[in-house]
Amino acid sequence: MIYIQNAAQIATLGGASSKPKTGKEMEDLGLIEHGGIVIEDGVFTFVGSNEEAARYVEQHAGGREVTVFSAEGRTVTPGLVDPHTHSVFAGSREFELNLRLQGAKYIDILQAGGGILYSTERTREASEEQLMAETGKRLDRFLAHGVTTIEAKSGYGLRLADELKQLRVARQLDASHPVDIVSTFMGAHAVPAECRGDADGYVRSVIEEMIPAVAREGLAEFCDVFCEEGVFTVEQSRAILEAGKSWGLSPKLHADELVSCGGAELAAELGAVSADHLLHASEAGIAQMAESGVIAVLLPGTAFFLMAEPADARAIINAGVPVALSTDRNPGSSPTESLPFIMNLACLTMGMTPAEVLTACTINAAHAICRADTIGSIEAGKQADLVLFDAPNYNYLQYHYAVNLVDTVFKKGAPVIQNGRRV
Ligand code: NIG
Ligand code: FE
Repeated sequence: MIYIQNAAQIATLGGASSKPKTGKEMEDLGLIEHGGIVIEDGVFTFVGSNEEAARYVEQHAGGREVTVFSAEGRTVTPGLVDPHTHSVFAGSREFELNLRLQGAKYIDILQAGGGILYSTERTREASEEQLMAETGKRLDRFLAHGVTTIEAKSGYGLRLADELKQLRVARQLDASHPVDIVSTFMGAHAVPAECRGDADGYVRSVIEEMIPAVAREGLAEFCDVFCEEGVFTVEQSRAILEAGKSWGLSPKLHADELVSCGGAELAAELGAVSADHLLHASEAGIAQMAESGVIAVLLPGTAFFLMAEPADARAIINAGVPVALSTDRNPGSSPTESLPFIMNLACLTMGMTPAEVLTACTINAAHAICRADTIGSIEAGKQADLVLFDAPNYNYLQYHYAVNLVDTVFKKGAPVIQNGRRV
Protein backbone atom coordinates (compact mmCIF):
# COMPACT_ATOMS: atom_id res chain seq x y z
CA MET A 1 0.00 0.00 0.00
CA ILE A 2 1.29 3.46 -0.94
CA TYR A 3 0.12 6.45 1.03
CA ILE A 4 0.81 9.94 -0.33
CA GLN A 5 0.05 12.41 2.42
CA ASN A 6 -0.14 16.14 3.07
CA ALA A 7 -0.46 17.43 -0.49
CA ALA A 8 -0.98 21.19 -0.55
CA GLN A 9 -3.61 20.66 -3.23
CA ILE A 10 -4.90 17.71 -5.24
CA ALA A 11 -6.59 18.36 -8.59
CA THR A 12 -8.45 15.07 -8.88
CA LEU A 13 -10.38 15.86 -12.09
CA GLY A 14 -12.85 13.34 -10.72
CA GLY A 15 -16.56 13.59 -11.14
CA ALA A 16 -17.59 10.37 -12.81
CA SER A 17 -18.98 11.68 -16.06
CA SER A 18 -18.50 9.47 -19.06
CA LYS A 19 -18.22 12.53 -21.30
CA PRO A 20 -15.35 15.00 -21.81
CA LYS A 21 -15.81 18.30 -20.01
CA THR A 22 -17.25 21.25 -21.93
CA GLY A 23 -17.79 24.95 -21.19
CA LYS A 24 -17.88 25.77 -17.47
CA GLU A 25 -17.27 22.11 -16.54
CA MET A 26 -13.69 22.61 -17.71
CA GLU A 27 -13.17 24.86 -14.65
CA ASP A 28 -14.10 22.09 -12.22
CA LEU A 29 -10.94 20.32 -11.08
CA GLY A 30 -12.43 18.37 -8.17
CA LEU A 31 -9.96 20.17 -5.89
CA ILE A 32 -8.95 18.87 -2.48
CA GLU A 33 -6.91 21.13 -0.19
CA HIS A 34 -4.52 19.30 2.16
CA GLY A 35 -5.26 15.85 0.90
CA GLY A 36 -4.00 12.31 0.78
CA ILE A 37 -4.04 9.51 -1.79
CA VAL A 38 -3.87 5.74 -1.36
CA ILE A 39 -2.63 3.37 -4.04
CA GLU A 40 -2.93 -0.42 -3.96
CA ASP A 41 -1.70 -2.78 -6.69
CA GLY A 42 -1.06 0.09 -9.11
CA VAL A 43 -4.56 1.51 -8.75
CA PHE A 44 -5.95 4.45 -6.76
CA THR A 45 -8.12 3.16 -3.94
CA PHE A 46 -8.72 6.36 -2.02
CA VAL A 47 -8.42 10.13 -2.40
CA GLY A 48 -9.67 12.66 0.13
CA SER A 49 -8.70 15.00 2.94
CA ASN A 50 -5.65 14.16 5.07
CA GLU A 51 -7.86 13.03 7.94
CA GLU A 52 -10.00 10.79 5.71
CA ALA A 53 -6.97 9.33 4.00
CA ALA A 54 -5.26 8.58 7.32
CA ARG A 55 -8.41 6.84 8.52
CA TYR A 56 -8.64 4.83 5.28
CA VAL A 57 -5.06 3.63 5.70
CA GLU A 58 -5.65 2.70 9.33
CA GLN A 59 -8.74 0.68 8.48
CA HIS A 60 -7.49 -0.99 5.30
CA ALA A 61 -3.75 -1.63 5.79
CA GLY A 62 -4.53 -4.85 7.66
CA GLY A 63 -0.94 -5.70 8.54
CA ARG A 64 0.40 -4.85 5.07
CA GLU A 65 3.45 -2.66 4.68
CA VAL A 66 2.50 1.02 4.07
CA THR A 67 5.01 3.12 2.11
CA VAL A 68 4.47 6.77 2.98
CA PHE A 69 5.39 9.64 0.65
CA SER A 70 5.16 13.22 1.80
CA ALA A 71 3.66 15.63 -0.75
CA GLU A 72 4.05 18.58 1.57
CA GLY A 73 4.03 21.93 -0.20
CA ARG A 74 3.32 20.30 -3.54
CA THR A 75 0.38 20.11 -5.92
CA VAL A 76 -0.78 16.74 -7.20
CA THR A 77 -2.41 16.17 -10.59
CA PRO A 78 -3.24 13.09 -12.63
CA GLY A 79 -0.41 11.95 -14.91
CA LEU A 80 -0.49 14.30 -17.91
CA VAL A 81 -1.82 12.84 -21.16
CA ASP A 82 -0.56 14.00 -24.55
CA PRO A 83 -3.17 13.01 -27.16
CA HIS A 84 -1.35 14.06 -30.38
CA THR A 85 2.30 13.33 -31.12
CA HIS A 86 4.47 12.24 -34.02
CA SER A 87 7.14 10.88 -31.68
CA VAL A 88 8.52 7.98 -33.75
CA PHE A 89 10.95 9.37 -36.34
CA ALA A 90 14.66 9.69 -37.02
CA GLY A 91 16.78 12.81 -37.32
CA SER A 92 15.98 16.47 -36.73
CA ARG A 93 15.34 19.62 -38.79
CA GLU A 94 16.93 22.56 -37.02
CA PHE A 95 18.10 23.95 -40.39
CA GLU A 96 14.43 24.54 -41.31
CA LEU A 97 14.08 27.00 -38.46
CA ASN A 98 16.74 29.12 -40.13
CA LEU A 99 14.94 28.86 -43.49
CA ARG A 100 11.70 29.94 -41.83
CA LEU A 101 13.44 32.84 -40.11
CA GLN A 102 14.48 33.97 -43.59
CA GLY A 103 10.84 33.94 -44.70
CA ALA A 104 10.26 30.40 -46.03
CA LYS A 105 6.79 29.02 -45.25
CA TYR A 106 6.28 25.62 -43.63
CA ILE A 107 4.12 24.38 -46.51
CA ASP A 108 6.61 25.63 -49.16
CA ILE A 109 9.44 23.70 -47.48
CA LEU A 110 7.26 20.55 -47.62
CA GLN A 111 6.31 21.12 -51.25
CA ALA A 112 9.98 21.61 -52.15
CA GLY A 113 10.65 18.08 -50.86
CA GLY A 114 11.74 19.04 -47.33
CA GLY A 115 9.71 19.03 -44.13
CA ILE A 116 7.83 15.77 -43.53
CA LEU A 117 9.54 14.31 -46.64
CA TYR A 118 13.00 14.99 -45.20
CA SER A 119 12.04 13.23 -41.96
CA THR A 120 10.59 10.39 -44.04
CA GLU A 121 13.97 9.82 -45.73
CA ARG A 122 15.73 9.71 -42.36
CA THR A 123 13.07 7.39 -40.90
CA ARG A 124 13.17 5.02 -43.87
CA GLU A 125 16.97 4.76 -43.51
CA ALA A 126 16.76 4.06 -39.77
CA SER A 127 16.74 0.56 -38.33
CA GLU A 128 14.15 -0.40 -35.73
CA GLU A 129 16.92 -0.28 -33.10
CA GLN A 130 17.87 3.28 -34.06
CA LEU A 131 14.23 4.39 -34.02
CA MET A 132 13.77 2.72 -30.63
CA ALA A 133 16.77 4.57 -29.21
CA GLU A 134 15.80 8.00 -30.61
CA THR A 135 12.15 7.64 -29.60
CA GLY A 136 13.07 6.24 -26.17
CA LYS A 137 14.95 9.46 -25.41
CA ARG A 138 11.84 11.44 -26.30
CA LEU A 139 9.76 9.28 -23.98
CA ASP A 140 12.26 9.90 -21.16
CA ARG A 141 11.76 13.64 -21.67
CA PHE A 142 7.98 13.30 -21.73
CA LEU A 143 8.13 11.43 -18.43
CA ALA A 144 10.41 14.02 -16.87
CA HIS A 145 7.76 16.61 -17.76
CA GLY A 146 4.98 14.66 -16.07
CA VAL A 147 3.53 12.99 -19.18
CA THR A 148 2.58 9.37 -18.45
CA THR A 149 0.63 8.52 -21.63
CA ILE A 150 1.01 9.71 -25.21
CA GLU A 151 -0.66 9.07 -28.52
CA ALA A 152 1.88 8.49 -31.31
CA LYS A 153 1.27 8.58 -35.04
CA SER A 154 3.07 6.92 -37.90
CA GLY A 155 3.49 9.03 -41.03
CA TYR A 156 7.25 9.22 -41.63
CA GLY A 157 7.33 5.92 -43.49
CA LEU A 158 4.83 6.71 -46.24
CA ARG A 159 5.16 3.18 -47.63
CA LEU A 160 3.94 -0.05 -46.14
CA ALA A 161 7.14 -1.50 -44.67
CA ASP A 162 8.22 1.74 -43.02
CA GLU A 163 4.79 2.67 -41.69
CA LEU A 164 4.67 -0.79 -40.09
CA LYS A 165 8.20 -0.27 -38.76
CA GLN A 166 7.18 2.95 -36.98
CA LEU A 167 4.09 1.35 -35.47
CA ARG A 168 6.02 -1.73 -34.31
CA VAL A 169 8.57 0.52 -32.62
CA ALA A 170 5.72 2.30 -30.84
CA ARG A 171 4.32 -1.03 -29.72
CA GLN A 172 7.68 -2.23 -28.40
CA LEU A 173 8.28 1.02 -26.51
CA ASP A 174 4.78 0.89 -25.07
CA ALA A 175 5.72 -2.47 -23.58
CA SER A 176 9.22 -1.54 -22.38
CA HIS A 177 8.99 2.12 -21.29
CA PRO A 178 6.96 3.55 -18.39
CA VAL A 179 5.18 5.97 -20.75
CA ASP A 180 2.14 4.28 -22.31
CA ILE A 181 1.71 4.73 -26.06
CA VAL A 182 -1.59 4.68 -27.95
CA SER A 183 -0.97 4.30 -31.67
CA THR A 184 -2.47 6.04 -34.69
CA PHE A 185 -1.88 5.12 -38.32
CA MET A 186 -1.15 8.26 -40.35
CA GLY A 187 0.08 7.02 -43.70
CA ALA A 188 -1.70 10.06 -45.15
CA HIS A 189 0.71 12.54 -43.57
CA ALA A 190 2.14 13.62 -46.96
CA VAL A 191 2.36 12.29 -50.51
CA PRO A 192 5.79 10.61 -50.69
CA ALA A 193 8.32 11.85 -53.24
CA GLU A 194 7.98 8.75 -55.43
CA CYS A 195 4.21 9.42 -55.82
CA ARG A 196 4.55 13.12 -56.58
CA GLY A 197 1.76 14.20 -58.95
CA ASP A 198 -0.26 11.06 -58.19
CA ALA A 199 -1.87 11.76 -54.83
CA ASP A 200 -4.89 9.65 -55.78
CA GLY A 201 -2.64 6.68 -56.50
CA TYR A 202 -1.00 7.08 -53.09
CA VAL A 203 -4.40 7.39 -51.40
CA ARG A 204 -5.37 4.09 -53.06
CA SER A 205 -2.32 2.38 -51.60
CA VAL A 206 -3.13 3.80 -48.14
CA ILE A 207 -6.68 2.44 -48.42
CA GLU A 208 -6.08 -0.86 -50.16
CA GLU A 209 -2.69 -1.89 -48.83
CA MET A 210 -1.67 -0.05 -45.66
CA ILE A 211 -4.90 0.20 -43.62
CA PRO A 212 -5.69 -3.52 -43.96
CA ALA A 213 -2.11 -4.49 -43.02
CA VAL A 214 -2.07 -2.18 -39.99
CA ALA A 215 -5.47 -3.40 -38.83
CA ARG A 216 -4.62 -7.10 -39.33
CA GLU A 217 -1.51 -6.71 -37.18
CA GLY A 218 -3.49 -4.73 -34.59
CA LEU A 219 -0.90 -1.96 -34.75
CA ALA A 220 -3.17 1.08 -34.37
CA GLU A 221 -6.44 2.19 -32.82
CA PHE A 222 -6.90 5.42 -34.74
CA CYS A 223 -6.46 6.67 -38.30
CA ASP A 224 -5.44 10.27 -38.98
CA VAL A 225 -5.02 12.37 -42.16
CA PHE A 226 -3.29 15.71 -42.82
CA CYS A 227 -6.32 17.34 -44.49
CA GLU A 228 -4.86 20.57 -45.84
CA GLU A 229 -4.63 22.61 -49.01
CA GLY A 230 -1.74 21.16 -50.99
CA VAL A 231 -1.64 17.93 -48.95
CA PHE A 232 -4.84 15.79 -48.84
CA THR A 233 -8.23 17.13 -49.95
CA VAL A 234 -11.45 16.71 -47.99
CA GLU A 235 -12.56 14.02 -50.48
CA GLN A 236 -9.32 12.06 -50.15
CA SER A 237 -9.40 12.43 -46.36
CA ARG A 238 -12.99 11.21 -46.20
CA ALA A 239 -12.17 8.15 -48.30
CA ILE A 240 -9.18 7.25 -46.10
CA LEU A 241 -11.00 7.76 -42.81
CA GLU A 242 -14.04 5.79 -44.03
CA ALA A 243 -11.75 2.95 -45.02
CA GLY A 244 -10.04 3.14 -41.63
CA LYS A 245 -13.42 2.97 -39.90
CA SER A 246 -14.39 -0.12 -41.86
CA TRP A 247 -11.22 -1.77 -40.49
CA GLY A 248 -11.98 -0.67 -36.94
CA LEU A 249 -9.68 2.38 -36.81
CA SER A 250 -11.42 5.40 -35.25
CA PRO A 251 -11.01 8.64 -37.18
CA LYS A 252 -8.93 11.63 -36.12
CA LEU A 253 -8.04 14.56 -38.33
CA HIS A 254 -5.40 17.28 -38.77
CA ALA A 255 -7.97 19.94 -39.60
CA ASP A 256 -7.74 23.53 -40.79
CA GLU A 257 -4.15 23.99 -39.58
CA LEU A 258 -2.78 26.29 -42.28
CA VAL A 259 -5.92 27.38 -44.17
CA SER A 260 -9.66 26.90 -43.72
CA CYS A 261 -10.61 23.94 -45.90
CA GLY A 262 -13.56 22.13 -44.31
CA GLY A 263 -11.61 19.91 -41.91
CA ALA A 264 -13.77 20.66 -38.86
CA GLU A 265 -16.90 19.94 -40.92
CA LEU A 266 -15.48 16.63 -42.13
CA ALA A 267 -14.55 15.59 -38.57
CA ALA A 268 -18.15 16.29 -37.49
CA GLU A 269 -19.60 14.44 -40.48
CA LEU A 270 -17.52 11.33 -39.75
CA GLY A 271 -18.07 11.47 -35.98
CA ALA A 272 -14.31 11.68 -35.49
CA VAL A 273 -12.92 11.24 -31.99
CA SER A 274 -11.02 14.50 -32.39
CA ALA A 275 -10.18 17.26 -34.85
CA ASP A 276 -6.76 18.71 -34.17
CA HIS A 277 -5.10 22.13 -34.79
CA LEU A 278 -8.19 24.13 -35.97
CA LEU A 279 -6.32 27.45 -36.32
CA HIS A 280 -8.52 28.33 -39.29
CA ALA A 281 -11.66 26.33 -38.53
CA SER A 282 -14.91 27.97 -39.67
CA GLU A 283 -17.62 28.96 -37.22
CA ALA A 284 -19.99 26.49 -38.87
CA GLY A 285 -17.41 23.73 -38.57
CA ILE A 286 -16.94 24.41 -34.86
CA ALA A 287 -20.72 24.39 -34.31
CA GLN A 288 -20.96 21.04 -36.12
CA MET A 289 -18.15 19.61 -33.98
CA ALA A 290 -20.07 20.63 -30.84
CA GLU A 291 -23.16 18.92 -32.15
CA SER A 292 -21.49 15.61 -32.95
CA GLY A 293 -19.26 15.61 -29.84
CA VAL A 294 -15.88 15.86 -31.58
CA ILE A 295 -13.05 16.85 -29.22
CA ALA A 296 -10.85 19.79 -30.29
CA VAL A 297 -7.19 19.00 -29.68
CA LEU A 298 -5.41 22.35 -29.68
CA LEU A 299 -1.67 22.67 -30.26
CA PRO A 300 -0.54 26.17 -29.29
CA GLY A 301 3.13 25.10 -29.37
CA THR A 302 2.84 24.49 -33.10
CA ALA A 303 1.38 27.96 -33.67
CA PHE A 304 4.15 29.40 -31.46
CA PHE A 305 6.93 27.55 -33.28
CA LEU A 306 5.51 28.40 -36.74
CA MET A 307 5.03 32.01 -35.57
CA ALA A 308 1.32 31.89 -36.36
CA GLU A 309 -1.80 33.03 -34.51
CA PRO A 310 -3.04 30.17 -32.30
CA ALA A 311 -6.54 28.68 -32.51
CA ASP A 312 -9.41 30.64 -31.02
CA ALA A 313 -9.73 28.51 -27.89
CA ARG A 314 -12.27 30.79 -26.27
CA ALA A 315 -14.66 30.61 -29.22
CA ILE A 316 -14.24 26.83 -29.36
CA ILE A 317 -14.95 26.41 -25.62
CA ASN A 318 -17.89 28.84 -25.81
CA ALA A 319 -19.35 26.82 -28.68
CA GLY A 320 -19.53 23.82 -26.33
CA VAL A 321 -16.70 21.80 -27.89
CA PRO A 322 -14.58 19.88 -25.34
CA VAL A 323 -10.95 21.01 -25.59
CA ALA A 324 -7.78 18.96 -25.05
CA LEU A 325 -4.19 20.19 -25.44
CA SER A 326 -1.12 18.52 -26.86
CA THR A 327 2.52 19.11 -27.77
CA ASP A 328 2.16 17.82 -31.37
CA ARG A 329 5.75 16.61 -30.71
CA ASN A 330 7.28 16.29 -34.19
CA PRO A 331 10.57 17.22 -35.87
CA GLY A 332 9.23 20.17 -37.90
CA SER A 333 6.46 22.24 -36.39
CA SER A 334 6.78 21.45 -32.67
CA PRO A 335 10.00 19.83 -31.45
CA THR A 336 9.23 19.74 -27.73
CA GLU A 337 8.16 17.18 -25.12
CA SER A 338 7.24 19.84 -22.58
CA LEU A 339 3.48 19.56 -22.21
CA PRO A 340 3.71 21.92 -19.20
CA PHE A 341 5.15 24.61 -21.50
CA ILE A 342 2.29 23.97 -23.95
CA MET A 343 -0.03 24.54 -20.98
CA ASN A 344 1.71 27.87 -20.36
CA LEU A 345 1.20 28.81 -24.01
CA ALA A 346 -2.47 27.78 -23.91
CA CYS A 347 -2.92 30.12 -20.97
CA LEU A 348 -0.75 33.01 -22.14
CA THR A 349 -1.39 32.97 -25.91
CA MET A 350 -4.95 31.57 -26.09
CA GLY A 351 -6.39 32.93 -22.86
CA MET A 352 -7.39 29.57 -21.39
CA THR A 353 -7.64 29.65 -17.59
CA PRO A 354 -5.25 27.54 -15.46
CA ALA A 355 -8.17 25.25 -14.59
CA GLU A 356 -9.26 24.79 -18.23
CA VAL A 357 -5.67 24.05 -19.17
CA LEU A 358 -5.35 21.31 -16.56
CA THR A 359 -8.63 19.71 -17.63
CA ALA A 360 -7.43 19.81 -21.23
CA CYS A 361 -4.21 17.90 -20.41
CA THR A 362 -5.78 15.27 -18.17
CA ILE A 363 -9.35 14.03 -18.39
CA ASN A 364 -10.21 15.63 -21.75
CA ALA A 365 -6.93 14.43 -23.24
CA ALA A 366 -7.72 10.93 -21.98
CA HIS A 367 -11.09 11.15 -23.74
CA ALA A 368 -9.33 12.25 -26.94
CA ILE A 369 -7.56 8.86 -27.02
CA CYS A 370 -10.52 6.88 -25.63
CA ARG A 371 -8.76 6.10 -22.33
CA ALA A 372 -10.94 8.06 -19.88
CA ASP A 373 -12.10 4.82 -18.28
CA THR A 374 -8.59 4.12 -16.95
CA ILE A 375 -6.60 7.40 -16.82
CA GLY A 376 -7.00 11.20 -16.73
CA SER A 377 -8.23 11.60 -13.16
CA ILE A 378 -7.36 10.60 -9.60
CA GLU A 379 -10.33 8.45 -8.65
CA ALA A 380 -10.69 5.11 -6.91
CA GLY A 381 -10.37 2.36 -9.50
CA LYS A 382 -8.22 4.25 -12.00
CA GLN A 383 -4.61 3.46 -12.89
CA ALA A 384 -2.33 5.25 -10.41
CA ASP A 385 -0.56 7.72 -12.72
CA LEU A 386 0.12 11.02 -10.98
CA VAL A 387 2.45 14.00 -10.80
CA LEU A 388 3.71 16.00 -7.82
CA PHE A 389 4.58 19.51 -8.89
CA ASP A 390 6.82 21.77 -6.87
CA ALA A 391 3.97 24.30 -6.68
CA PRO A 392 1.72 25.44 -3.81
CA ASN A 393 -1.41 25.34 -6.01
CA TYR A 394 -2.46 24.61 -9.59
CA ASN A 395 -2.55 28.30 -10.62
CA TYR A 396 1.18 28.47 -9.90
CA LEU A 397 1.84 26.01 -12.76
CA GLN A 398 0.90 28.67 -15.31
CA TYR A 399 2.57 31.49 -13.42
CA HIS A 400 6.08 30.10 -12.88
CA TYR A 401 6.30 29.40 -16.59
CA ALA A 402 8.68 27.58 -18.92
CA VAL A 403 10.60 25.73 -16.21
CA ASN A 404 10.06 22.13 -15.25
CA LEU A 405 8.27 22.05 -11.89
CA VAL A 406 7.81 18.26 -11.94
CA ASP A 407 9.14 16.78 -8.72
CA THR A 408 7.77 13.24 -8.64
CA VAL A 409 5.92 11.02 -11.13
CA PHE A 410 4.11 7.79 -10.30
CA LYS A 411 3.28 5.42 -13.14
CA LYS A 412 0.95 2.51 -12.37
CA GLY A 413 1.59 3.09 -8.68
CA ALA A 414 5.41 3.10 -8.86
CA PRO A 415 7.64 6.16 -8.53
CA VAL A 416 9.46 6.66 -11.88
CA ILE A 417 10.68 10.23 -11.32
CA GLN A 418 11.80 11.49 -7.92
CA ASN A 419 13.38 14.89 -7.18
CA GLY A 420 13.08 15.51 -10.91
CA ARG A 421 15.24 12.49 -11.76
CA ARG A 422 14.47 9.09 -13.26
CA VAL A 423 14.52 6.28 -10.68
O1 NIG B 1 0.94 18.33 -36.88
N1 NIG B 1 0.63 18.92 -39.87
C1 NIG B 1 1.25 17.89 -40.11
N2 NIG B 1 2.02 17.23 -39.28
C2 NIG B 1 2.75 17.80 -38.23
C3 NIG B 1 4.07 18.32 -38.67
C4 NIG B 1 4.96 17.22 -39.03
C5 NIG B 1 6.34 17.66 -39.49
O2 NIG B 1 6.56 18.82 -39.87
O3 NIG B 1 7.21 16.77 -39.47
C6 NIG B 1 1.90 18.80 -37.49
O4 NIG B 1 2.17 20.01 -37.47
FE1 FE C 1 0.32 16.80 -35.82
